[in-house]
Amino acid sequence: MADKKIYQASTTAPVNIAVVKYWGKRDPKLNLPTNSSVSVTLSQADLRTHTTAACSSSFGNEDTLLLNSSPQDVTGARTQACFRELRALRSSLEASDSSLPKLSTLPLRIVSENNFPTAAGLASSAAGFAALVRAIANLYELPSSPTDLSRIARQGSGSACRSLFGGYVAWQMGSKADGSDSVAVEVAPASHWPTMRALILVVSAEKKGVSSTSGMQITVATSKLFKHRAEVVVPQHMEMMEKAIKEKDFETFAKVTMMDSNSFHSVCLDTFPPIFYLNDVSRSAIRVVEDINKKAGKIVAAYTFDAGPNAVIYFEEENVEQVAGVLKSALGSLDGWQGRDIKVQDTEGVDA
Ligand code: DP6
Repeated sequence: MADKKIYQASTTAPVNIAVVKYWGKRDPKLNLPTNSSVSVTLSQADLRTHTTAACSSSFGNEDTLLLNSSPQDVTGARTQACFRELRALRSSLEASDSSLPKLSTLPLRIVSENNFPTAAGLASSAAGFAALVRAIANLYELPSSPTDLSRIARQGSGSACRSLFGGYVAWQMGSKADGSDSVAVEVAPASHWPTMRALILVVSAEKKGVSSTSGMQITVATSKLFKHRAEVVVPQHMEMMEKAIKEKDFETFAKVTMMDSNSFHSVCLDTFPPIFYLNDVSRSAIRVVEDINKKAGKIVAAYTFDAGPNAVIYFEEENVEQVAGVLKSALGSLDGWQGRDIKVQDTEGVDA
């Protein structure tokens, strides 16, 4: 009788929020970026994707994926690239050890749940693809490092490669045509700077208007400002940001975070037709942060916005009242994890 056994593994992956943004692809097929980026991984206690990957000969012929109980299309090139690469790694393990079950040929059944709004500019694709790649790697018992897996997750969604690590993470754009050096690396673990906090202000939980994938393609094709950002602005921001993290220099960290977010949204505006991710509430959040910093006489809070209107505010624990308290009362009622001060995810806390 054929083996109908169900093999399965589960994992969770955290959200990361970039402080130097990825925007633009030099190779859309391999998902290679036009610039490097840096992010902070947020605690899974607050925001995460939980994924179970299973395979069995009893699953029919097709790979399937359920996200928050809705069936997703897995035939897209990105998901297929992740499946293909992970199966190839499993298949070479099977080739070298004949006692291993032949999982690489079995259909996959993936079930994922987010505990936060999907596609609201909250990096759901980052946690999603990181969890998918990690869950299948666990199922296949692959001896891969987070950097190895980041190379695969990047092909699912660029920002996902940074969610394979906790703490402070850089995605090095790399220079090779095959993308083998376009991977995530740790800049510092969460324990290096444990007082960092993030506050997420969900301005709108609706699905965003222009997806990052298509938005950045139109930017690359039409914005003249974009070239300057990718070639001049981001390399400077990368250097300043990595130094600020290593030295725990909050003022520089915050200044670069805000300037990089502004630079990214400027190239969105310079895209033709223009892309508007910020709305009036986003702009009031910027003004409140400016007022908080003015009142403090130094920079104690930094705003950043991804491809949507929701604000993420970074600050240090000692300033929680001055920052989170003021933002919450200025911007109205917030419930659940919204408005909660979120810690940085420990490297050790990311499931292997
Ligand atoms: C603004 O990683 O979602 O959040 O690679 O096409 O899936 P794809 O794009 P995605 O883009 C994220 C853009 C960003 C900035 C960032 O996270 O660095």
